[in-house]
Amino acid sequence: MTRRTLAVVSAGLSQPSSTRLLADQLAAATRDELVRRGSEVELHVVDLREYAHDVVNNMLTGFAPAALREVIDTVTGADGLIAVTPIFSASYNGLFKSFFDVLDSESLVDRPVLIGATGGTARHSLALEHAVRPMFAYLRSVVVPTAVFAAPEDWADGTADGALRARIRRAAGELADQIERRPPATGPADPFALTTDFLQMLGRGDGEPVN
Ligand SMILES: Cc1cc2nc3c(=O)[nH]c(=O)nc-3n(C[C@H](O)[C@H](O)[C@H](O)COP(=O)(O)O)c2cc1C
Repeated sequence: MTRRTLAVVSAGLSQPSSTRLLADQLAAATRDELVRRGSEVELHVVDLREYAHDVVNNMLTGFAPAALREVIDTVTGADGLIAVTPIFSASYNGLFKSFFDVLDSESLVDRPVLIGATGGTARHSLALEHAVRPMFAYLRSVVVPTAVFAAPEDWADGTADGALRARIRRAAGELADQIERRPPATGPADPFALTTDFLQMLGRGDGEPVN
């Protein structure tokens, strides 16, 4: 059985948060889909509001405090990412953008990503397409075709209504497809890993022992 890790990032600020609610439902649907296809799934849910101060400190100093470092490693080392933001002023909120700003810009290359957003009005659903998707395009991630937006009228007593449930299922299937096409993740890339063979660094690329 293949073991897969799924990182879920929610940038909701309220408590309770509709963004977190959407993130949880996307995570559950993706996990169920991967399990149905024979994988074992480990979920890591990150509420960014808990790391807001650390994210700002990272932006100011260039270094991630230990707790944030752990979160960054979890997100960049996962097989797939679900990233959900509330829409503020017709775009992602500042916390969501700041978190992805502090990641190494190479750390999510080729990573399957499902994007989602919540908003006060369905009129702003295309913010996912004009703001969130291009940000992941810059990071060279692979964003699945279905992006999931939830407006207040999509929730019936805290549960997704039929149309929202269908979009969640479709997006989860697309994310599972992308994850399955790749070998299991081996964790975050080592920023200090040698990019050149040690012998080549010594000027001996032939493998002969160095005297
Ligand atoms: C500062 C601010 C700006 C907002 N701007 C928008 C907006 O432009 N479009 C929109 O649809 N909703 C907007 N909203 C509403 C939030 O996106 C919506 O309430 C969201 O679901 C909140 O998520 P949460 O419950 O996870 O905090 C805004 C809310 C705040 C606080």
